[in-house]
Amino acid sequence: MLFFEQLISGRDVMFKCLIRGVFLFVLTTQTVLGASTEAVYGDKAMISSRSTLASAAGIEIMAQGGNAVDGAVATAFALAVTYPSAGNIGGGGFAVIHFPDGRVLTQDHREKAPGTAHRDMYLDADGNEVKGLSRDTHLAAGVPGSVDGLLDLLERHGTKSRQEVLLPAIRLAKEGFVLDRYMARHINTVGKRLQDTPAAKKVFSMGDRLVEAGDVWQQPDLAVTLQRIHDKGRAGFYEGKTADLIVAEMKRGNGIITHEDLKNYRSVWREPVMTTYRGYDVWTMGPPSSAVLVLQILNMLEPYDVASMGYGAAELIHLMIEAERRSYADRAEHLGDPDFWDVPLEGLVSKEYALKRFADVDLEKASDSDDILAGYPAGKESMETTHFSVMDSNGMAVAFTTTLNSSYGSKLVVDGAGFLLNNEMDDFSVKPNTMNQFDLIGREANAIKPNKRMLSSMSPTIVSKDGKPVLVTGSPGGSTIITTTLQVILNVIDHGMPLHDAVSMPRFHHQWTPNRIIYERYAFSPDTQRILEALGHVGLMEWPYGRGIGDANSVMMKDGVLQGVKDPRAEGVAVGF
Ligand code: DON
Repeated sequence: MLFFEQLISGRDVMFKCLIRGVFLFVLTTQTVLGASTEAVYGDKAMISSRSTLASAAGIEIMAQGGNAVDGAVATAFALAVTYPSAGNIGGGGFAVIHFPDGRVLTQDHREKAPGTAHRDMYLDADGNEVKGLSRDTHLAAGVPGSVDGLLDLLERHGTKSRQEVLLPAIRLAKEGFVLDRYMARHINTVGKRLQDTPAAKKVFSMGDRLVEAGDVWQQPDLAVTLQRIHDKGRAGFYEGKTADLIVAEMKRGNGIITHEDLKNYRSVWREPVMTTYRGYDVWTMGPPSSAVLVLQILNMLEPYDVASMGYGAAELIHLMIEAERRSYADRAEHLGDPDFWDVPLEGLVSKEYALKRFADVDLEKASDSDDILAGYPAGKESMETTHFSVMDSNGMAVAFTTTLNSSYGSKLVVDGAGFLLNNEMDDFSVKPNTMNQFDLIGREANAIKPNKRMLSSMSPTIVSKDGKPVLVTGSPGGSTIITTTLQVILNVIDHGMPLHDAVSMPRFHHQWTPNRIIYERYAFSPDTQRILEALGHVGLMEWPYGRGIGDANSVMMKDGVLQGVKDPRAEGVAVGF
């Protein structure tokens, strides 16, 4: 217990009590992997996130009477401190919000290309991509959107003050928290390059040595930056001292983000995209997210009796892969920032288009990705992101996905400001048909232009029934975000799984090109693999990285009770009351 109290030597009694509660919960439910595997139940509030301390920060605010938006904003700011490989103030993300009256709104605080960015900025004189330029350098950073997005979200739809929701994050940065084994190793291995620049090394080491499990890790520069946001709002980040530090960091590394880019950054409220699926309404983020693919795939599968086929059946896997193949082909051609590109959104989500697009599928034979071109709907992206889900008992729910793109983004810290810069520019199509770090390709729709937002796969999603939210889900995982989100939805709606199983069951993924099926261990039985190969599916490949595909931290309302499930593939916790 003493150990955990050191974790955050918070002064606030309420917070300490909550943290004690979380600690006891974690003690009683953690597996040897260090992650909870049970569903957590609550009557009033629920948060499932990748970081135990961030979930606790959000729940602290909700326990003080805050709504789901207040909880989400506090969790997101805390993630920037306790989960710096993806939680951020130097990156961007999306939020889908369901209101008690049934309305759904989405907020886009995705990064933007700087004002002097241009289409060929990552190509050499011969027109070839310069490897690493869009990922590992100051040029990789888009103009950060998180701070504007979070503050705007809070002002419009929260009930708590900016000062209240920022307090847990500031306390965690200033007073520090104990690094667990996983995080110390992660910083030193996945974040190895953090030791390459003095600014990042200052943050991600203990002075003259690497961090170790058990260190009380403090981030004083970040605490001061967060304090400026606390005191001055968006001006505390996009103007003044923080902006000066960002621009000075750009100058050190030939980066191009200017004071003007920062000052002009604004998050955008966009209409959600929606489809119906077996009596449910499925709401997700529209472009510049490509989450519409989740809806397209659901539409293609709806005519089939998925439930009777059963989870893991080869015929169902075949249908899912063929739907994924077609929708990812559409992504490469049609999807980009809607402020710059005419995305045929209505056509893409229509049931008629799904029927037409799926008409050439042979139930007995896999198609070849080389034969699958983009369709013509009417009208014409080591990696880390993080998703968390929040719901309160009044019918307000928030699905929130945020990222720096790669793990620890560009691995570059803004000197003196203590936060990492994203490398989101790699999500643009740097050259037509050239793969990004997620092997995704794109074309004109996602070409680089000044002030344009890069296409994303982040798919924060809310499923509702009769105007009430029933499931809040989403995931990290680059291109696999879409198929992870899809599988959680199918597991709940079609396979009738309890939320814990829906989130935990093994997953697989296909993205049209490259033509391969990646799958988690145990996802396909040997005979299922044989059937898929006999149908002509090629490139079956066990997922080679980490613990699995995605990290779908989800929340559900069932029979009047809130349930939270932390994806057992990674650390973190669901907390509720
Ligand atoms: O927006 C996107 O699609 C990517 N930048 C997401 C990156 C990601 O999910 C890395 N995670 N594991």
